[in-house]
Amino acid sequence: MDNLLRWRDEFPIIDKTTYLISNSLGAMPRAVYDRLKDYADTWATRGVRAWEEGWWEASAEAGDQIGDLLGAEPGSISIHQNVTLTQAVISSCFDFTGRRNKVVLVDLEFPSIVYFYMEQRRRGARIEMVKNEDGVRVPLGKLLEAIDEETLLVPVSHVIFRSSYLQDARAIIERAHEVGAYVILDVFQSAGTVPFSLRDLEVDFAVGGVLKWLCGGPGVAYLYMRPDLRPKLKPMITGWLAHQRPFDFEVGEIDRTEDSYGMLNGTPQILPVYACRPGLEIIRQAGIENIRAKSVQMTERLIRGAEARGWRVNTPYDPAERGGTVSIDCPHGYEIMRELVARDILVDYRPQAGIRLSPHFYNLDDEIDFALEQIADIVSTSAWERHLQPA
Ligand SMILES: Cc1ncc(COP(=O)(O)O)c(C=O)c1O
Repeated sequence: MDNLLRWRDEFPIIDKTTYLISNSLGAMPRAVYDRLKDYADTWATRGVRAWEEGWWEASAEAGDQIGDLLGAEPGSISIHQNVTLTQAVISSCFDFTGRRNKVVLVDLEFPSIVYFYMEQRRRGARIEMVKNEDGVRVPLGKLLEAIDEETLLVPVSHVIFRSSYLQDARAIIERAHEVGAYVILDVFQSAGTVPFSLRDLEVDFAVGGVLKWLCGGPGVAYLYMRPDLRPKLKPMITGWLAHQRPFDFEVGEIDRTEDSYGMLNGTPQILPVYACRPGLEIIRQAGIENIRAKSVQMTERLIRGAEARGWRVNTPYDPAERGGTVSIDCPHGYEIMRELVARDILVDYRPQAGIRLSPHFYNLDDEIDFALEQIADIVSTSAWERHLQPA
C-alpha cells in the first residue's frame, strides 16, 4: 500500500485532472481555502493591529518551516517575492569592480537568472558561460574548471529546469570554496522532491520558491545565507525591515540586524505567506525521503513508457542524476501538450526539452500510464493538428 496516496483527498484538483505538472505549479492543498479566509478575517477584524499580532513575524516563521525541510538552521531564511529578486539581494552584497569579478553560469540555467547576471556586467561583472554538450547535462569537469581564483559567484541550479538533471552540488561547492568563490544554489526544482541538507552541503546561499514541489503557491521565494556569513556580507538592496530599530524611523545610514531580517528591504507580502503553510506541512508529514523513493519509481515508469514508444527522453536515465521531471521530446511536442491540457492532463512544454511530466507524491501509476497512452493516441490520430498556429 502506497501511504503517500492518503494525501490525495487534500488536493481538490486531483479529482478533476491528471495532475503531472508539479515542476511548474504544485497542486493546491484544500486547507489553503481556510488560510485565505483567516487572512481576510484578520485583516477585516484586527486591521492594523495584525502587524504586531503576527504579521511582522509571519514570513520569518514560514522561513523556518521551509528551513526545516531544507536542513537550514532556524532564522537563516528570509522570504522574498521571487527567485530573481533573491539573486538581486545576494549579488548586491558584492562588488564586481575588483580582479575577482567573474560569475560562472551554465547555459542550461533558468533564463531569468542569466538575464539578471548578464546585466551585472554594467557593474563590472564578467560572465563565463559553461556550455552543455547534450542538452541534458551540465559537464561537471568543465564547470569545475571554470571556477577559478577570479570567480566571485557561482549561481547554479541543483536540478536543471529543462532536463531535470541533478547536479553534484557538493563537488561544485567544494571547488568554489577551494578558490574562495561563493555558490548560490537554486533549489527550486529539487526542494520537496530530492532530499538534501543545506547545513551539510555548507553552501553559502540557497534560493528557491514554494510554488512547485512544495505545493505552497506563488509569491513566496526563500533566501538562505549560511549564518557565519552574516557579519561579513551586507546587501545594498536594503530597507527599513533590515534595521535594528525599524520603528524608530531613524534617518541616516542603516544599522542592520544580523539575523535573516537583515536581507529584507520593504514591507513583506503577507497573503502568499498564509497560503504557503498547508503545503509545507503536508510535505513535512509526507517526508521528502518517501517522496523521493516514489518519484524515482514513477519517473522510471515514464522513461520506460516513452522508450517503448520510441520517443526521445531528454532526462538522465540514471536516477542518481535525475530530479522529479521527465522531458519527453516527440515531434509536435508543443501541440501535443496543448491537446493534453485540453484533455485535462496538465503538463507543460519547454523548447529544447519537450513535454515535461512531473509526477508527485499524490499521483498514481495509472495516471502516468494514462498520460503516456493519451500522447500515443494524440500522435496516432493527429489530434495535435488542431493546435497548429496559423502561419
Ligand atoms: C530553477 C528555477 N529557478 C528559478 C525559477 C523562477 O524564478 P522566479 O521566481 O524569479 O520566477 C524557476 C521557475 O521555473 C526555476 O525552475
